[in-house]
Amino acid sequence: MSVLNGKKYNIITFGCQMNEHDSETIAGMLQEKGCFAVPSKEESDITVINTCSIRENADKRFFGTLGQLKKIKERNPDYIACVCGCMMQQQHIVDTVKSKYPWVDIIFGTHTIHKFPELLEKVCLEKQKVTELLEDSREIVEGLPAKRLYPHKAFVNIMYGCNNFCTYCIVPYTRGREKSRSPLEIILEVKQLVADGVKEVTLLGQNVNSYRGKHDDSGNICGSDPIQTWDFADLIYALNSIDGLERIRFMTSHPKDLSDKLIRAFVDCKKLCNYIHLPIQSGSSRILQAMNRKYTREQYLELVRKLREAVPRITISTDIIVGFPGETEEDFQQTLSLVREVKYDSAFTFLYSMRPGTPAAKYDDQIPEDVKHERFNRLVDAVNDASMEKNSAYVGRMEKVLVDGASKKDENTLTGRTEGFKLVDFSGDMSLTGQLIDVEITEGKTFSLRGRIKNNA
Ligand code: 5AD
Ligand code: SF4
Repeated sequence: MSVLNGKKYNIITFGCQMNEHDSETIAGMLQEKGCFAVPSKEESDITVINTCSIRENADKRFFGTLGQLKKIKERNPDYIACVCGCMMQQQHIVDTVKSKYPWVDIIFGTHTIHKFPELLEKVCLEKQKVTELLEDSREIVEGLPAKRLYPHKAFVNIMYGCNNFCTYCIVPYTRGREKSRSPLEIILEVKQLVADGVKEVTLLGQNVNSYRGKHDDSGNICGSDPIQTWDFADLIYALNSIDGLERIRFMTSHPKDLSDKLIRAFVDCKKLCNYIHLPIQSGSSRILQAMNRKYTREQYLELVRKLREAVPRITISTDIIVGFPGETEEDFQQTLSLVREVKYDSAFTFLYSMRPGTPAAKYDDQIPEDVKHERFNRLVDAVNDASMEKNSAYVGRMEKVLVDGASKKDENTLTGRTEGFKLVDFSGDMSLTGQLIDVEITEGKTFSLRGRIKNNA
């Protein structure tokens, strides 16, 4: 039996779905060692902070939380404080943690997650601090367990890392180069998830459109023709044929690699949800070039046109950064006009955040904070107007909703997602959780819909 048996753990996760899924893996490994989850770090024997470095805000919140662990350690000398994730892939952060936060016992990174149980056992037995970091890794470790947040839906990593080096972004430095999982591993994982009751999978990767899965054994898997190197659309077609699976989603798609074959897959594959997250970042071709995005405003608009032509019901969300170095009012106007033209269903808007080590951090035409904020406010207004318009148009429509459970705001209200990833609140019995049901939309709001369950009788 492991020395970890019976220990209480708490995981605090910052950042994207990739990090959320890494935390599910960490939880799965701890459960296998006999640990169990508790709701707060104060009650835990082991706290893990899974960090994000995408923007400076996330850094600040991490250090704030880390400071709070000191008191817990003082109360309980056997307490183990662990930090991991993207921030730990940066040497200056690791140095700061070691020098200013001596109560941290374990530091590990994005390429050493699978080592975590071993490190914990070592710390328990030898009462020493450990650091286990790798700059990058070529191998993908398969077969790790995961303790999923929901029984009816699951994240599935299809690839790791990023090769795109957008000039503002730290991810290629913290997550390493692109590595695709083998299609067979992915299909087997999805089949197992379906056998466990999962209805919806979200395929994860920084840029799923550049997925290239090698299938060494040229045998026929999942009823498809033998293919040696699978692209993303091949994978979608194969997953679409898995019995019992109801919905397939994916995140994130880089516009430069979105193929006609994938657009075709939206039409052909009934299980592929009519929803795409397609980050634009800026509406100005000049800024897109400075960002190293490798597409122009016109090319992006053409993609949106093709997607909507092929799949008229498709919902589209995006990411937009304001205040990238050198962004003029004219560039920003281009972003505003693009938002008004595309009319996104929703958009994540970000203030440009200087990330040490990225090319854009060295650009000398940084935008003053007050200008960034002022543009940000105007952008949010434009984004919200579009969302409101889109959501209002749903009133009277019948939507299939996968029920997630009680709403966070009101435990008497159920909440779920439409195929187009819109959040819907409605009254109903908690026993509907995990089911796909018909909901009539009665109200469209900026960030969600309200509905009523269709009487199936
Ligand atoms: N500043 C602001 N936003 C950023 N993003 C990535 N890096 C930065 C940065 N340095 C945003 C992009 C990306 C999303 C996940 O985070 O819009 O698509
Ligand atoms: Fe960052 Fe660009 Fe890679 Fe996305 S595609 S993770 S924004 S470098």
